Amino acid sequence: MHKIKVELGERSYSVMVGHGAINQLDAILPKSAKRAVVVTQSQIGLQPELKIDSTTVAIGGGEESKNLQTIEMLAQKFAEFGLTRSDVVIGVGGGMVTDVAGFAAASWHRGTPVVHVATSLVGMVDAAIGGKTGVNIAQGKNLVGAFWQPSGVICDLDALKTLPDREMRCGLGEVAKYHFLTGDDLLSLAMPERIARCVEIKAKIVSADERETGSRALLNYGHTLAHALERSSNFSLAHGEAVAVGMIFAAHLAHVMQRITKHRVDDHYTVIGETYGLKVKPDEKIDRRKLIDLMHLDKKAVSGLTFVLDGPKGIEVVSGVSEKHLDQAFDAMQLNEK
Ligand code: GLY
Repeated sequence: MHKIKVELGERSYSVMVGHGAINQLDAILPKSAKRAVVVTQSQIGLQPELKIDSTTVAIGGGEESKNLQTIEMLAQKFAEFGLTRSDVVIGVGGGMVTDVAGFAAASWHRGTPVVHVATSLVGMVDAAIGGKTGVNIAQGKNLVGAFWQPSGVICDLDALKTLPDREMRCGLGEVAKYHFLTGDDLLSLAMPERIARCVEIKAKIVSADERETGSRALLNYGHTLAHALERSSNFSLAHGEAVAVGMIFAAHLAHVMQRITKHRVDDHYTVIGETYGLKVKPDEKIDRRKLIDLMHLDKKAVSGLTFVLDGPKGIEVVSGVSEKHLDQAFDAMQLNEK
C-alpha cells in the first residue's frame, strides 16, 4: 500500500493507493463522523462497508447529470438523513462523482467533510485529489464550484480491473501528462507504482499552489485545445482522449514557436501514441475556426490565447499566443478538417 500525503497545513490528508485500499476507508474517516452519506452511481458497484450509520444515494451518469439539480437532490437527501457538519460525505466513483460529491459536501452546512473513493484512473491520478469540486451550467463545464479538500482519498487498484477500456484510455491521457510535466521515467515503473507516483506529483503541485494562482495551472497541459475539442464534439470525445490530442497540439505549437525541437515533438507521439496507445488526432473532422474561438473562451485566456507549453525551461504557462502560430500547429498536425 502506498500512502501519499497532500501537505496543506491543518487540511493535510492522505491518499491510499493499492489493491484492497478500500479496507482503509474506516480508518481515514474523520473521527467526528457518526453517519455517512455515500454518493455514487448505480453502475459503480463498489459498496463500502462502514462501521458508522450510512445511507447510499445514486446520482445519474454523464456530464448532463453534473448539474445544480443533482446538488439540490443530494442536499435534500442529506437533510432527510440528518447529516450534520461533523459527519461525512463519501464520494465513490470516477471524477464526475467525486466532483459532485465534493461540491455537495462543500455546500452542505457551509462545509462538511468529504472522503473520496476513486474508482477510475482519471479519478485516481487527477480528479479526486486536490480539492477542485463543481458542476456544469449551460454556459460551460465546472463553472460553479468550490475548492474543498477531502479528508482522505482511497485509490483501490482492484476497481481498475473492471474499468471499461475507454475510461482506462482516458486515465492514460492524464498519466501521459505527468511524463511531460516532470521528465520522470514513469515507464520504468509498474502500473501501481506509476499511479502512486502520479499521485505524488499531483500532491506536490497542489501543496505548492492549492488555489491555482501559479504552478497548478501546469496540470492543464494539453487542456486548452482539449476543452475546445470536447465542447465542439458535444462531449462525444471524452476528456482524457481530448487531453492526449491536446498535448500533441501543444507540442507542435511549442515547436512552431521555436520553444522545443522536432525530436521533442516526436517524443510526444511516442509516449502518447505508442506507449499509451492513445489517438493523436480525432477521428471526426474538425472546424479549426470554431476551435480557435472556443480556445479564446478558455478560463486561462485572461491575456490573449493562453497555453501550457513545453520549452527550454520546462513546461510553463504562455500567454499571447498568435493565431499565426496556431495555424502552423494545426497544419503540422494534418487533421481532417471540415
Ligand atoms: N485537474 C487539474 C487540477 O486539479 O488542477
